Amino acid sequence: MGPKRVLVVGSLNMDLIVYCDRRPGPGETLAGTAFAMAPGGKGANQALAAARLGGHVSLLGRVGEDAFGERLLGSLREAGVDTRPVARTVGVSTGVALITVDGNGENSIVIVPGANGLLTPNDVAAGANLFREAGAVLLQLEVPLETVVAAARAAAAAGARVLLDPAPVPGGPLPRELLQLADVLLPNQHEAGVLAGRAVPDLAAAWDVAGDLLDLGPRAVVLKVGAQGAIVAANGRCDHVPGLEVPAVDTTGAGDAFAGALGVALVEGLDLLDGVAFANRAAALSVTRRGAQPSMPTRHEVDRLAGARDRYEPPEDAVRSS
Ligand code: RIB
Repeated sequence: MGPKRVLVVGSLNMDLIVYCDRRPGPGETLAGTAFAMAPGGKGANQALAAARLGGHVSLLGRVGEDAFGERLLGSLREAGVDTRPVARTVGVSTGVALITVDGNGENSIVIVPGANGLLTPNDVAAGANLFREAGAVLLQLEVPLETVVAAARAAAAAGARVLLDPAPVPGGPLPRELLQLADVLLPNQHEAGVLAGRAVPDLAAAWDVAGDLLDLGPRAVVLKVGAQGAIVAANGRCDHVPGLEVPAVDTTGAGDAFAGALGVALVEGLDLLDGVAFANRAAALSVTRRGAQPSMPTRHEVDRLAGARDRYEPPEDAVRSS
């Protein structure tokens, strides 16, 4: 039998991206420096990231019968993702994300879910085979919460690892059952702060909050702290897996690069700490390039970075733009 698959259940969006020196305030109009349209959506990004890193990947999701949907499916197929479980729905638009990226590479995102909002627990039930073939199931929160819970249940019943990226984080608490079904909860500092009910401004706070989040039910918490890497809380201990300092061009999709890479690493049999180190490298490379899916690194690029210490300057010709 070949290696188990990575199954992603989640969103597909067309990203409409504006680059500007700073984000406008309320009522303010600013001139941006560039515009790009590129495939995105947290689910699709994670699927494409995992496929670029050598994973055997399927994506369960929903798009509209429109040009954006067509283009999103095309780029995923090109990367080797099995998109047959992505349904196409007449009369609804494909998901769209309006993204502003400032001069520090930081983004703000507004999504219009469209077809993503119509992915149901029935779609999960119809994809039962996919869960049986999966070693890891990657979940995020851009599709209805009841569908995410159904997918987590199906994954756990099939014996697959559940990786839950709680993004975008809801205003209220997540269902206890969902957190308990998660083998790995993957928040960034903002998401961890919302889930824990206290801010996570630095590494010291992340250390404490990772432990607190473990009490909510997941088997492990991987709290991402940007260039500083991640705090991993599991099995009664907490570890810091350092990240890489890189020149940040665009952080959009970095968390998705991380999740996709961690899914591949765990399916390949790496332990959690080594998997997080691998995922840190994939995320670091992704922020050196523009866009979400266009920035996802290849396996060769991530492996080549294994020897890098705590700083990495990409060669000029490696800075891709969308
Ligand atoms: O995580 C980045 C993604 O968030 C973007 O691609 C955008 O589509 C939103 O879903």
